[in-house]
Amino acid sequence: MELQGKTAVITGGASGIGLATAKRFAAAGVNLVLGDIEEAPLQDALSQLRGDGARAIGVVGDVAQEADVEAMRDAALAEFGAVHVVFNNAGVGGGMTIGTPKAVWDWVLDINLGGVINGINTFVPLFLEQREGHVVNTASESGLVGSAGSGPYCASKYAVVGLSEALFHELALYDKNVHVTVLCPNFVRTRINESQRNMPSDLVAYSANPMVQASKKIADDLVNSGIEPAEVADLVVNAVVNNRFWILTNEHSATRITEQRLEWMRGGRPPRAKKMTAPGS
Ligand SMILES: NC(=O)c1ccc[n+]([C@@H]2O[C@H](COP(=O)([O-])OP(=O)(O)OC[C@H]3O[C@@H](n4cnc5c(N)ncnc54)[C@H](O)[C@@H]3O)[C@@H](O)[C@H]2O)c1
Repeated sequence: MELQGKTAVITGGASGIGLATAKRFAAAGVNLVLGDIEEAPLQDALSQLRGDGARAIGVVGDVAQEADVEAMRDAALAEFGAVHVVFNNAGVGGGMTIGTPKAVWDWVLDINLGGVINGINTFVPLFLEQREGHVVNTASESGLVGSAGSGPYCASKYAVVGLSEALFHELALYDKNVHVTVLCPNFVRTRINESQRNMPSDLVAYSANPMVQASKKIADDLVNSGIEPAEVADLVVNAVVNNRFWILTNEHSATRITEQRLEWMRGGRPPRAKKMTAPGS
């Protein structure tokens, strides 16, 4: 895709990978609509982008709500007349596999998976009609390997990888110049380890659980040792320009864990996922 003058909607655009990608798109002449649940960081992000000369607007909304994602699309159409890229990126982490209340599972799945579904339902029909568009879905390396301490997150990210592959094959049948990318980052230095900041207040008590606290400490160290969001942003922009399906920020790690999983399926030993080991192990 030729980017100059195009419009991108980025969910979770106020922080981390979303904001870094907004900056890269802006530098390539792309108009931006940032959707985020956090109003003050969203306003800060818009000020930074506009200060650098970008054409950018923001919509406060929750990607788990289809109407909020539709409002992001409608704001983009009203301001810029068209949308060409949707980056379904907003996400949260949280929850062990054992002992996590269903409401916490729902919170993670409704955002990480439901948000991507809402993005597809809202934008793909528009892209097919205009015969141009690119969907980027943020999954994770946790969508390629299961690991202790992150059941809801892994479940949501595996689902995003699966639905992205399904979308790839369906779009090929339509053959209308609409494409999809799935982003599977290893650790990136963002605020994902502070996802609890957006957790509904009635669920926050769960996060005080010592196992959850221990797991968070591990996540803090891993995220803080990660790559910069700007590196991921370059890969996202490149995938849209050159129409690539997979983005593996650490290709060696992603392919190694996939090969190990294949060996496990064939009767070998289970892979030892290095990240997010269970507290105390
Ligand atoms: N940072 C990592 O190590 C890493 C690794 C793999 C995948 N990811 C994925 O990258 C994506 C971006 O996360 P990040 O690392 O930049 O973290 P981040 O916390 O810095 O940014 C996430 C953004 O999403 C927003 N958000 C949260 N819930 C929302 C909701 N319901 N509706 C709208 N916006 C919401 C937050 O306010 C925040 O601005 C997530 O999907 C995450 O799972 C991150």
